[in-house]
Formats: sequence, C-alpha cells, structure tokens
Amino acid sequence: MKILFVASEVAPFSKTGGLGDVAGSLPVALAELGHEVKVVTPRYASVKDDRLTPTGHHLELRFPFGTERGPILSLRPSPNLELLFLENEHFYGRAGIYGDAWGEFGDNHRRYAYLSLGALQAAQRLRFHPDIIHLNDWQTGLAAVSLRRGFQGTPLSKAKTVLTIHNLAYQGQYGKHIMDDLGLTWDLFTAEQGLEFYDTVNFLKGGLVFADALTTVSPTYAKEIQEPEGGASLDGLLRRRRGSLTGILNGIDAHEWNPETDTYLPARYGVNAMEGKVTCRRELLRRFGLREDTEAPVFGIVSRLAWQKGVDLLLEVMPQALQSDIRFVAVGSGEGRYEDGLRALQHHFPQQVGTFIGFDQGLSHLVEAGVDFFIMPSRYEPCGLNQMYSLRYGTVPIVRATGGLVDTVEGGLDGTGILFEAFHPAALLAAVRRAQALYAEPERLRAFRQRGMSRDFSWAASARKYERLFASLVAE
Ligand code: ADP
Ligand code: GLC
Repeated sequence: MKILFVASEVAPFSKTGGLGDVAGSLPVALAELGHEVKVVTPRYASVKDDRLTPTGHHLELRFPFGTERGPILSLRPSPNLELLFLENEHFYGRAGIYGDAWGEFGDNHRRYAYLSLGALQAAQRLRFHPDIIHLNDWQTGLAAVSLRRGFQGTPLSKAKTVLTIHNLAYQGQYGKHIMDDLGLTWDLFTAEQGLEFYDTVNFLKGGLVFADALTTVSPTYAKEIQEPEGGASLDGLLRRRRGSLTGILNGIDAHEWNPETDTYLPARYGVNAMEGKVTCRRELLRRFGLREDTEAPVFGIVSRLAWQKGVDLLLEVMPQALQSDIRFVAVGSGEGRYEDGLRALQHHFPQQVGTFIGFDQGLSHLVEAGVDFFIMPSRYEPCGLNQMYSLRYGTVPIVRATGGLVDTVEGGLDGTGILFEAFHPAALLAAVRRAQALYAEPERLRAFRQRGMSRDFSWAASARKYERLFASLVAE
C-alpha cells in the first residue's frame, strides 16, 4: 500500500513526547513490511539535518489571511520510506514546537492548517497517490476535513483516512473567528457532522467526524475514551463511531531503546549480563550529585510535567516516602508548578533527591537504565512508552492502573511491575512500599527484571495490526 503519514513531531528530528517517538518508528516498521510510506512533518528550526535535500517542489496555500509558500525537503532513510519536511520560515522558523516560554503560539491554528493542507498538497505535487492517509492528533485533523471537501475528483480523494488519537485531551480548540481566518466554510460549523464544539472550533473533532477510521494507542484507552470520565466531552461522538474505533498498542523503537547497544549509556547490558546496569546506576547518581555507593533503592521519573502525569500526587507522597532510605531522581519539564515542586523537594532532601528540569534525550536513557523503579502515577495514560522502555531496561515500573499502562505492565507476584488503582496518596505510597519490599528480596527482584526484559514491545505485532486495518479500508 501507499501510505501518507502526517504528524506534528517526528523523532529524532522533533519531539516533545511519545507522539514523536511513534511518528519516528511506526512508519519505519510499515516500510519494513513492504509498504511505500511518506511522512509529512514541519521543518522546525530545530531540524538541522544536512541530509535534507530539496525535492524541487513548493507548496502554495491560499488562506484569507494571505498566501503561504514554502519548499518541500526530503530525506530517504530507506528505499520505501521518505520523510517530507515542510519548510515555512514564518510558521516553523522560530524556536519551539507548539510554544515557548510565553506559552502556546497564538497562530497554531494557522501553523497546523498549513501542515494539514500542506500534507495533501505535497502528495499532489509529488504525484504520490496514497491508499491511506494516516493522521495523528488534532494538529492533523483538518486534513481529514479538507480531503472530503476540497479534493473531490482528484486521485487523492480515493485515499482512506485513519486518525490516531494519541491524547484526547489536546483538541486544538479555537474561537469561531478562525473559520473566516482559515477560509473554512460555515456549513462546517455544526455540532452534528462538523467542527463545532460548544460554539468553538475543534480541530480534533473535525478529524474524528471526517476520518474513515479512528484508532487510539491502547485497547484500554479505546474503552476509557467512550466513557464520560475519560472522554474529554467527545465520548458521545466516540460512542457513535465505536464501530470504526480500535485500540492498537504502540510499539517501541527497539533499536533506539536497547540496553545492549545504547550509546547514551556508560555501559551496556542484557538479560544474561546485568553488570552494566550497576555502572549506569552509579553514573546516574553521580550525575545527580548523589552518593554513588548507596545500597538504597533508586526511584525515578522522566516526564512531561503536565496534569495528566500525576506529578502532584508524587510530590504529595515523596516527603513521606523519603523518610525511609530511598533515592529519587526526576527529569522533566513543563508546567511551572510541578517544576517548582520538584526543585523544592530536592531542596528539602538534598542527599536523596536529584532533579533535572529540562529536556535531555541522553539523560532519559540513563534514567531508564540507572534506576531500580520507574514511577508513572498518571491520571490517565493513552499508552505510555516509558514503562515499556523501563521493562526493556530491567527497571521495574510502578504505574497507576489506567490506559496503556494496564495493557503493558503485569501486576501480581509473578508479574513485571507494580500497579496501583486509586489516584490517591495512600495508594501510591503503598506501591512504593511494595517496591521497597521487592528490592529487599534480590531473587524475586531478579525474576521481575528478567520477565520484563523478555517481553517483546517492538512494532512487530502492532504494525501488522495497522496493516490489517489499512487493508480492510482499502478493500471497502
Ligand atoms: P507522553 O507522550 O504523554 O509524554 P510517553 O510515555 O508516551 O508520554 O512518551 C514520553 C516520551 O518523551 C518518552 O520517550 C520520554 O523519554 C520522553 N520525555 C519526556 N520528558 C522528557 C525529558 N524531560 N527529557 C527527555 N525525554 C523526555
Ligand atoms: C501521547 C500520550 C501517551 C502516548 C503517546 C504516543 O502523548 O500521552 O500516553 O504513549 O501519545 O502515542
């Protein structure tokens, strides 16, 4: 099949979270299955790869606010896979992906309209006639809408669209004045079959209404978003479309996240030779200014510091947990209140806590390798990749039983990790205590680690599921 994959971030070129990881690795897996895949994404200022070459093609998109133009650049990692970067100085030439220190960019509706419509026009310019257009999150929702409106009679209109929900809470919601700003016709401004959402414009909703098929990134999250509690006010629509909605668990990039070959680590290790993990642990503690020779269990997080991630719960529990002999390291950036909270925790427990506020790829690998327990106390979690990285790195994840965390971490005495149910301090604290008890029994801990490391979270199985879905749409 010919697949056009559109995403607002693609690792390693741009990444704020798991979407970037998935957009960087799923297309590779689909190309390995023999499909012809083109990935379209913005060329942000951070994308400095000198392997990018001009395609000779340019976009020209007419909006009421002005005509936007820019070249299409290309990178071909393998014969079946091409990455197309949309360059537009005015939209993507600045520092930051969705925003900067002052908050979200005020013109994101234009920036992602450019991506959505630009992806369709890029396919036309390159005479690439996809069978499937695979869209991801709200930033690409308008592509599903405009494919059904602006492209009738063109080869592109034969394509089936699939929209993957990586996170239902981010919807791309704007005041209705942007209808005119973007030149969207007002007949689209309806609640039933359009973009309207409580008198605002909602890009994700447009995608959910117009895409041929919907997926989300774990089976459990697929169920949760059809309920009012997890549905972010779109559960009604998702229930109506439940026949077209499937949960397909994310895979991980098993080359990038492999403790046997990971070049970010001071030492490498595998399930049958774990000494390297001890070296990683020492290096991690040293980097955080903590004593390297401690026997105490080391807990850690790597996270976007957002409400979703339950950092507030962690901050509530940690002062008590740190009364016993444990260490805690945190790598993250995001909302100021959580950044401040982590800094304050370190200030109060300087011998036991290390923090790094910022985004650091290498450090995220070192944390996965160096800690004994990785904590994810998420309020909700569509899939979550970090717990899968943890399992692969022989680190026992402590997770709240929600979304994809349930689908990837096995609880119980002979499981792979520690799960807790209630989003409540006592429940998290009890989970930390269970981890300490596990740590005190080296044989049992070893067995946990071995089971985790033996699980296969590569894209092998899930890429096949996307393939089957795509094939069924094409056959329709
Ligand atoms: P989400 O996409 O909701 O943030 P995931 O668990 O799916 O959650 O993916 C998060 C990804 O972002 C992981 O690859 C993780 O290592 C990475 N990440 C998050 N915060 C940081 C950070 N501060 N520095 C480096 N990597 C980070
Ligand atoms: C989102 C979700 C996360 C998921 C990632 C990739 O950012 O928050 O749970 O793993 O997308 O699908």
